[in-house]
Amino acid sequence: MQINEARFLVSNTDVEKCPAPSMPEYAFIGRSNVGKSSLINMLTGNKNLAKTSGTPGKTQLINHFLINNTWYMADLPGYGFAKVSKSQKKDFEKIISDYILKRKNLMTVFVLIDIRHKPLANDLQFMAWLGENQIPLAIVFTKADKLNRQELRKNSEHYKAMLLESWQELPPLFLTSAEKRLGREEVLSYIEGTNEVFVKPL
Ligand code: GTP
Ligand code: MG
Repeated sequence: MQINEARFLVSNTDVEKCPAPSMPEYAFIGRSNVGKSSLINMLTGNKNLAKTSGTPGKTQLINHFLINNTWYMADLPGYGFAKVSKSQKKDFEKIISDYILKRKNLMTVFVLIDIRHKPLANDLQFMAWLGENQIPLAIVFTKADKLNRQELRKNSEHYKAMLLESWQELPPLFLTSAEKRLGREEVLSYIEGTNEVFVKPL
């Protein structure tokens, strides 16, 4: 899929105030600093679209972007960010869970996982929660440029084996690097295919 236009629409903390759910939508979720905003910029080919930072906790709102005037991307705050207060953490979790459970046009939640790390409990819990709520998910491994080929294979195989301990089948998986623009075509063609089955909510 070619990206002809990508523009920022609105930031908010309330799912009710998100843009009208008249087009298919994809959310990018994961721990703080995993590379959600960088991935959005890489996919859209605009490095200034979503704000990125080396300091975790940069994205604190639900940010909507309109792509090619036909579908949305949503950039979300990270979960599992230790440096925010407990109450702020709860607020983030509420924003994220309300959004996921109520957003009618949400086609897939892309769960971002840093390929360098071993499977982490809160990522696995979050995916289990998506499964319990029948929310379609896909896994995007990020920062692939940081490992060599052998390490990439080892870590992704380990991750898959771990998932298969609790899942009957694997969700779609993508290996990406925002730095090297790796995985761009794969993620975009998955979105293109999924856009075709969108049914406008009543
Ligand atoms: P929050 O909004 O704080 O939750 O973070 P985020 O998940 O949006 O992460 P962000 O895109 O801001 O990236 C965090 C840091 O990781 C930045 O310093 C990025 O430059 C770096 N980063 C993101 N993706 C990649 C990648 O593919 N490769 C490398 N080497 N660095 C990356
Ligand atoms: Mg961010």
